[in-house]
Amino acid sequence: MKVSLSILTVDYLKVYESLKDYIDDVDYLHLDVMDGVFVPNISFGPGFIKSLRKINDDLIFDTHLMIEYPDRYIKEFSEAGSQYITFHVEASCDVMKTIELIKSYNVKAGLSIKPNTKVSEIEKYLPYLDMVLVMSVEPGFGGQKFMDSAIDKVKELKELREKNGYSYLINIDGGINDETGKKIKDYVDMAVSGSYVVNNKNYSSKEAIKRLHDLK
Ligand code: DX5
Ligand code: ZN
Repeated sequence: MKVSLSILTVDYLKVYESLKDYIDDVDYLHLDVMDGVFVPNISFGPGFIKSLRKINDDLIFDTHLMIEYPDRYIKEFSEAGSQYITFHVEASCDVMKTIELIKSYNVKAGLSIKPNTKVSEIEKYLPYLDMVLVMSVEPGFGGQKFMDSAIDKVKELKELREKNGYSYLINIDGGINDETGKKIKDYVDMAVSGSYVVNNKNYSSKEAIKRLHDLK
C-alpha cells in the first residue's frame, strides 16, 4: 500500500526539520487545506504549499481541499505545484465543471466523500476522475478514530473500477495505522496517514511508514 503523508499535525515552523529524515520514504505528500467554513478548522493555503515544493522537486503533491468554494482557488493550488487536487462532492460547486477546471491546468482531479455520503452519489463522475478519496473520519482534524463504514466504500469503488474499466486511484483518509490499514489494504492503492507517522509513540516515523508499506 502506498502512503500519502499528511503534515496537518507537524509544527509548520519546523516543517523541513521534521520531515527531512523520512520524506523520501513516502509516495505522496497529502496537503490538507481547510477554510473554516466547509470544516470547523483552518489550516494553510497555496503560499505554504508553494514553499513546501522547495523540500523536494520530485514529491507528488496530493492536495485535499476541504473548502466550501473549491472552483475559486483551483488556479492558485495548481500553480502552487499540486499534481492531484481533490475536492468534496458536498462542497458548493458544479462538480463536473470543477473536475474540468482542474484538468484544464494539467492537474489530476480527485473527488472526496465524507462519511455520510454514499459511493452511489458520485457514480456518474467516476469515469472522469483520477482519484477518489474516501473519508474514514469527519474531515477537520488529524488524530481521529477510523470509521469502519469506509471499508465497504473502498471495496465498492474497486469493484466498480474493475467492472467498468475506470482508472481512478482509490485513496482513504483518516485514522490509518498498522491495524486499520489491514482492513482496507486490499481495496485501496494508497492511504493517507498523518498522526500514525508523525506522532507515533512506539516507532520512528521511518519505521511507521515501512509498516504501512509492508502491510500483509
Ligand atoms: C482530516 C484530514 C486528514 C487527517 C489525517 O480532515 O483530511 O488528512 O489529517 O490524519 P490522521 O492520519 O491523523 O487521521
Ligand atoms: Zn486529508
